[in-house]
Amino acid sequence: MRLLLIGYGNVGRAFRKLLKEKSEKYPILQNIKIEGIITRRGLMIGDKENFNPDKKTTILEAIDEIQPDVIVDMSSPNYKDGEPSVSAYVKALSNGIHVITTNKAPLALKFRELMEIAESKGAKIGFQGTVMSGTPSINLFRVQPVAEVFRIRGILNGTTNYILSRMYEGLNFEEALNEAKEKGYAEEDPTLDLNGFDAAAKLTILVNFMMNRSIRLGDFKFKGIEGISSDEIRRIKSEGKKIKLIAYADNYTIEVSPKVLSSQDPLFYIDGVENALEIENEIQRIIIRGPGAGPINAAYGALTDLVLLLKGCL
Ligand SMILES: NC(=O)c1ccc[n+]([C@@H]2O[C@H](COP(=O)([O-])OP(=O)(O)OC[C@H]3O[C@@H](n4cnc5c(N)ncnc54)[C@H](OP(=O)(O)O)[C@@H]3O)[C@@H](O)[C@H]2O)c1
Repeated sequence: MRLLLIGYGNVGRAFRKLLKEKSEKYPILQNIKIEGIITRRGLMIGDKENFNPDKKTTILEAIDEIQPDVIVDMSSPNYKDGEPSVSAYVKALSNGIHVITTNKAPLALKFRELMEIAESKGAKIGFQGTVMSGTPSINLFRVQPVAEVFRIRGILNGTTNYILSRMYEGLNFEEALNEAKEKGYAEEDPTLDLNGFDAAAKLTILVNFMMNRSIRLGDFKFKGIEGISSDEIRRIKSEGKKIKLIAYADNYTIEVSPKVLSSQDPLFYIDGVENALEIENEIQRIIIRGPGAGPINAAYGALTDLVLLLKGCL
């Protein structure tokens, strides 16, 4: 099976390394070959650890040249229009080429359109890495395809959860944010985490996939943690409660906003960069918790999708 990787940053490198390691142990991965890697700098043909582009091409040209069976998109999200990934997926899927992605933007913007093309061409889309990285969230639903989901509730952004946890312990917002940056939990420009956008993108993907809806990022309100003061956190703490940024969806409401949780709530205990997701379906309430980010985790998500694809389970 021929792979074309799009993006070779933290996740791309972790994915390549993980694929090499696991190929030695798992025979199902032995015939997987990385045939090309493309970034903004160009296309490198073949599989080498150090990225050195052979030529300047677009992703669409690279698909023609490499003729992959699967494209694995680990490029940066573009929330304006999802490009160049959206066009790459349309071209790939239309030609029966499967897509695996850790990039949230294309699916948060064009979920239904892309799924419809995939279904009509018998191609598959794996996207475990877009929500909770390697912690099975998307792929958990793949083993429960007929249990109807009517409620989703989660802590889906590690940066904001870390900041709120540290504010609960006495830091002010600026101190908690700076600490998150120092530890590598927050990006230099953390706007999309702090204002709830990142959690909203993940919730959009979950709702489309698990609740069979057709929504786009922007169809519902989201609010982040900016403006939450230390005083407010102290007051809520004195009542035995915590504030968490909660992504929520049921049949009437979809929203991301800070909520006050009591100690009876299982999400009360999710602290630091950990993520959690509560899924209520017609037969059970499932709660999963685990790391929501990290390049190695995201690489596990993408590699898991690849194995599921090979086994016919995507
Ligand atoms: N890091 C995590 O913990 C994590 C977890 C889950 C999901 N993700 C998602 O996984 C993706 C990759 O994350 P990362 O941490 O690896 O990011 P990164 O280190 O910043 O790497 C991004 C890569 O994407 C490439 N790229 C950006 N725009 C491109 C374009 N228009 N065409 C082709 N290549 C392009 C960059 O190429 P240049 O070097 O040429 O600019 C770079 O190789 C992102 O969508 C991220 O949201 C990340």
